[in-house]
Amino acid sequence: MLIPHKKFNLLVVDDELIIRESLAGWLQRDGYQVETAESGVQALKKAEAQHYDIMLVDVKMPEMDGLTLLKHLKERDPATAVVMMTAYGSIEDAVEAIKQGAFDYLLKPFDLEELSLTIDRLVQIQTLAMENIVLKERVAKIDRFEELVGRSEPMLQLYDTIMDVAQSDVTVLITGETGTGKELVARAIHAQSPRGYAPFIAVNCGAFTEQLLESELFGHEKGAFTDAKFTKKGRLELAHSGTLFLDEIGDITMKMQIDLLRVLETHEFTRVGGTMPIHSDFRVIAATHQDLLAAIQEGTFRRDLYYRLNVVHIAVPPLRERRDDIPLLAEHFLVRYAAETNKKIDAIHPEALEAMRNYDWPGNVRELENAIERAVVIGKGRQIQLADLPFFGPTDQSAIVGRSLEDMEREHIARVLEAEGGNITRTAQVLKINRTTLYHKLKKYGLKTCS
Ligand SMILES: Nc1ncnc2c1ncn2[C@@H]1O[C@H](COP(=O)(O)OP(=O)(O)OP(=O)(O)O)[C@@H](O)[C@H]1O
Ligand SMILES: [Mg+2]
Repeated sequence: MLIPHKKFNLLVVDDELIIRESLAGWLQRDGYQVETAESGVQALKKAEAQHYDIMLVDVKMPEMDGLTLLKHLKERDPATAVVMMTAYGSIEDAVEAIKQGAFDYLLKPFDLEELSLTIDRLVQIQTLAMENIVLKERVAKIDRFEELVGRSEPMLQLYDTIMDVAQSDVTVLITGETGTGKELVARAIHAQSPRGYAPFIAVNCGAFTEQLLESELFGHEKGAFTDAKFTKKGRLELAHSGTLFLDEIGDITMKMQIDLLRVLETHEFTRVGGTMPIHSDFRVIAATHQDLLAAIQEGTFRRDLYYRLNVVHIAVPPLRERRDDIPLLAEHFLVRYAAETNKKIDAIHPEALEAMRNYDWPGNVRELENAIERAVVIGKGRQIQLADLPFFGPTDQSAIVGRSLEDMEREHIARVLEAEGGNITRTAQVLKINRTTLYHKLKKYGLKTCS
């Protein structure tokens, strides 16, 4: 079997004590981990705290009947397989349950051998489904590592570091300019690690307000705030047994820094609006394009959190410091985008290649990728020409002489904006101005954005 031995968690839900006890005892002897609940409400509470692989649910219970419980379970944890238990004479309830997504039903009084068989069959099916996920992840894993293109000395060193840190659970801080491939490196570490079969959960910390980030990370209980209609699991919980990727970690507020530090130390937290402590076993990789040491000096980033994250530091070099990779990357993206657009372009004119080698690529690999994608779209013939590249169109002197600085600024902003696919944050980073300034300029020059 591909997955490590897994113990299946079962929950028996029945209002009758004698049935709960006898079923639980029997299934425990079969080698399962079994718990019990005496009502639908109690079952839901338990299911919020942990995942059950299989639930045995009595149809007739006071307060919340089995069918209602089934409906709630399907909404909240669809991965739980539900087996209904029903008395002879109410077979239509069983049929209704199957319609609503129950796996099977058992008729009371029980034939315990039949119970064992049903659960065995279910376990086999669930194991197969899990193996399938593992296999898919493995294929994806190979793909991902191959996605990191580059044979330059800095990249070879980077691969070594990735392999080294993948073997242990150390926290890694990845820094580097925008578009250098930080996220790709984080994914490669995860994929090469023993956690590779479990989820890789990415959170872009810069994309949320403090309150939203809090509920995104920790989850929230139903009713914790106006929009919290359901209990929601946070990313920390979803990352259990896998890797949590905290992207743009330099963007979080002081309060979040304190909360996060505590969680990284204990791996325990409560959902927003909740009191029950939740434990989750995740490995942390963080990334930022910001200079955190400077942020510490300015008092906007906590030193203790920095040391927590920066156990191993990986600095992804900018593209201009590994120019040997430029032709390789250009070729890689050419193959990808030619295939995607069904165009017969399979070469890059030496002049265009030379220009790319000499260009500084402030937006790094992402900018190169976008440039090739665009060249493939507008290119005619089998070769990418110099004129197809956004930054190297023919520099006609007469087109420059006599033009105002404002004119040139407008054109430059428009080009960078296009190269960054209309993304404001990245455009501002490449131009080395802040977003507010960029917004003012876009307004001033009447430029449109996609976002
Ligand atoms: N070495 C590489 N080989 C192939 N593709 C790469 C490489 N590095 C980056 N890319 C591609 O460039 C794009 C940007 O990469 P990624 O998102 O990992 O950068 P980043 O450093 O996280 O950027 P940001 O700081 O803007 O979040 C992605 O489409 C990625 O696939
Ligand atoms: Mg990124």
